[in-house]
Amino acid sequence: MYDHEKMIAAVSEVLAMNDRGSYTQPAHGLYPHQWLWDSCFVAIGMRHLDVERAQTEILSLLRGQWQNGMLPNIIFRDDPQYRTDRSIWRSWLSPNAPSDVMTTGITQPPMLAEAVVQIGKKLKAPERRRWYRLVYPAIVAYHEWHYAERDPHQEGLVLQIHPWETGLDNTPPWMNEMHDHQLPFWISVIEKSRFDRVINLFRRDTHSVPIDQRFSTIEALCLFDIQRRLRRKNYDIERVLNRSIFAIEDLSYNCIFIRANELLREIAATIKTDVPEELDRNMKLSEKAIEHLWDEYSNQYYSRDFVTHRLLKIPTIATLLPLYAGSVSHTRAKELVSLLEDDEMFGPAYPVPSVPLNSEWFQSKLYWQGPSWVNMNWLIIDGLKRYGFNDHALALTESTLEMVERAGSYEYFDPITGEAAGAANFSWTAALALDLAKTR
Ligand code: GLC
Repeated sequence: MYDHEKMIAAVSEVLAMNDRGSYTQPAHGLYPHQWLWDSCFVAIGMRHLDVERAQTEILSLLRGQWQNGMLPNIIFRDDPQYRTDRSIWRSWLSPNAPSDVMTTGITQPPMLAEAVVQIGKKLKAPERRRWYRLVYPAIVAYHEWHYAERDPHQEGLVLQIHPWETGLDNTPPWMNEMHDHQLPFWISVIEKSRFDRVINLFRRDTHSVPIDQRFSTIEALCLFDIQRRLRRKNYDIERVLNRSIFAIEDLSYNCIFIRANELLREIAATIKTDVPEELDRNMKLSEKAIEHLWDEYSNQYYSRDFVTHRLLKIPTIATLLPLYAGSVSHTRAKELVSLLEDDEMFGPAYPVPSVPLNSEWFQSKLYWQGPSWVNMNWLIIDGLKRYGFNDHALALTESTLEMVERAGSYEYFDPITGEAAGAANFSWTAALALDLAKTR
């Protein structure tokens, strides 16, 4: 019905437009720097156009790797006009930060191994091995960092310290916790301080996107406050966790990490090496640990509070990501698929909504509180295929492509009408639509 060729030309143009030589900015104006998981998604699409350029995208991410193995969620552009962005974070306060590039002090979902393997699929065997050998040490260090710093009790689940680390910035369970922990403090700060100036700096987002499609100013201030507290502790995890505001074992993040571990094994096997013993043990633990996030009353997985182990029982798009993790039983996977089929939950005309339609949080154009996002669809499609739900995978692929073909490479889409929302010419939408069209 739809002319995929035309769409492929259009999305390729978006990627070319956002290409900054060695990396791709997520969107002109709003997101001018290099973002971690954005670049991974971009590389997954870019490999169909220029596999070498896709490799460069990944190598360029590795410039930002910290000495402790962390990959930051943003590597800042070295341009005087972005001095404020760099100095909000002051990554140089940490002895672990690289000295030649400026970054944030937090990470984002570990899509690196996936991007590396997807690129590998486009290479002949000897080149693939060379590629894997080149990036393997960085991926191992990155995964080891997760266990060393983000799983202090060796439970197999890794914790996040800022909503931005999940990539789903204003996802309801995190916003709910944030309001509970912080709002009263912030109301007084706003009253007393000159924070409106900071708000203006921080809210570049609402210059180009309608305010009702982004998080509230109070939420923005809270996010900034958490960032400032992390900075005050020089991004030193022991100090951060010592008196943490909140730390969450996020469901979507952990699902992506479990899959990334499996892909790391695949990389190691291809280059005939063994994953370091301790890492191997931890990885096995993670596959099982996801079951601690299962709630037998509502038959769903949830994120968990790191300290109290309380499940944060608000369903979101993360509910479906155990399909991508791939480590849950077929029976559980089937239960998740039934939620995807449910018209009142994840089954509107343009799925998959980032919170279910019947949630009190649902707003069709509000960022991660309703709209459909192409990266989430890509992850779910990939999981559906691996569990053998091929018809579901195909249906979701088609509706995703239709959404992009009709509305363009927007950041997110209204799941009921398919209307575009957020930033225009958004790189990962373009890249992943390209990948879906090419691998259908
Ligand atoms: C927004 C998204 C985040 C993404 C970033 C750059 O903050 O929530 O996931 O990485 O934009 O596109």
